Amino acid sequence: MSSTGHLTGKGLQAVPRFQHGSRVPGWDDAADLTKDPAGVPDPAVVEVPADLRAEIEDFMSRYPDSRSAAIPALRAAQERHGWCSPEAVEQVACVMRLTPGYLASVAGFYDQLETRPVGHRPVYVCTNISCSLRGADNLLAELQHELAGADDVNLRGFECLGACDIAPMVSVEGVYVGPVDEAEIPELARQIRAGEDPLPAKQLIRRPCQDPGAAAPE
Ligand code: FES
Repeated sequence: MSSTGHLTGKGLQAVPRFQHGSRVPGWDDAADLTKDPAGVPDPAVVEVPADLRAEIEDFMSRYPDSRSAAIPALRAAQERHGWCSPEAVEQVACVMRLTPGYLASVAGFYDQLETRPVGHRPVYVCTNISCSLRGADNLLAELQHELAGADDVNLRGFECLGACDIAPMVSVEGVYVGPVDEAEIPELARQIRAGEDPLPAKQLIRRPCQDPGAAAPE
């Protein structure tokens, strides 16, 4: 991973970048071609928790092609293991009768499937074009500074969260806030650490709707 400097109120701070140049993880890990490909796990050998097996089988029953359940099945395993660990992937592969490699390629492609251990509270700073033009890189750097050591938080840049009209924006455990000013970052970080409602006045869900027939926000 390399770094790019961005000016902030505290001087030049590093925003980490992966080898492919993005601020989000992607394709750093090459396949180990010296290993034999792993086969479909043997159900007699791999222990799968009964509730996880039942959940995966339920997902599989909903699609004409059971492989279509790969994403929700991996998500279910991630919820139990904290990330798509080799053990989690093997359990899903065992139930779905797929190879771990097939599922690892799915997990590696989708941003919300974690292929490394992370904090269980996701905080995403959108760093795509609209947010980036409005200072998202600095927001991410500032938030990284303010949340240093908060191991329960999975803080990272994210590519377009679909709320460009409130750029620059942040998703705090699924709560969208924006536009976020750099001066609000210390308070936002304090709220995240304390588990408080993040920037209530900036939450997307509390914005008045243009539709007069829509329910008013609570
Ligand atoms: S670019 Fe940030 S939400 Fe779309």
